[in-house]
Amino acid sequence: MFDRKKRILITAGGTKEYIDPIRYISNDSSGKMGISIADASYDLGFDVTLVCTFNLDKPYKTLLASSAFDMKKVLLQEFLKNDVLIMAAAVSDFTPKKYQKHKIKSSENITLELIKTPDILKDISKIKKPEQKIIGFALETENLINNAKEKLKKKNLDYIIANESSAIGSDYNRIIILNQKGEEIYASGLEEKSSVAKSILEKIMT
Ligand code: CTP
Repeated sequence: MFDRKKRILITAGGTKEYIDPIRYISNDSSGKMGISIADASYDLGFDVTLVCTFNLDKPYKTLLASSAFDMKKVLLQEFLKNDVLIMAAAVSDFTPKKYQKHKIKSSENITLELIKTPDILKDISKIKKPEQKIIGFALETENLINNAKEKLKKKNLDYIIANESSAIGSDYNRIIILNQKGEEIYASGLEEKSSVAKSILEKIMT
């Protein structure tokens, strides 16, 4: 049975790294995987907080965090109030070094300098209490399991959900869940994200 009082913090969407007020660097993430997990968590009676890169109207608590830096800030405020963090957001690894306050004119040639964003999961796992659980995703184009195992260790996670890059922006996903020891505890078929979300919660919340 599920513990209905558990508080779950979930992230969703691709971060937007603004260059100027109009333009940004992002990725194809639709946010569907994270939102499906949040919806399924709510249906199961959990206390849900969804941190998303775009605004949403949901019957549970939603917070906006559009860039990687914003997301880290929001998660640092929210994490310790929760039992579980599921990090489904596609966080950009790079952000422009300088934000131009005014729209860059098309007459200019520009060189964009990018700096690394913080590894949010790695930083959050440093403040984790023993009773809290952190679950990450690994999005890979090759060596799915080995790369996922490396991220599991590097980010000090309780579980990692490995999926292929074809999942991004799609309504469907195929996942493999690895536990803290790197053991495969679940493999789904290619299913709708809403169905995958339910399986994820069954495996990690029981
Ligand atoms: N993640 C994070 N902070 C970042 C980048 C990613 O917290 N700056 C999280 C993602 O939300 C995901 C997990 O780390 O849960 C793995 O993300 P992924 O993009 O697969 O890997 P990266 O850590 O970015 O490593 P690489 O780009 O080398 O594959």
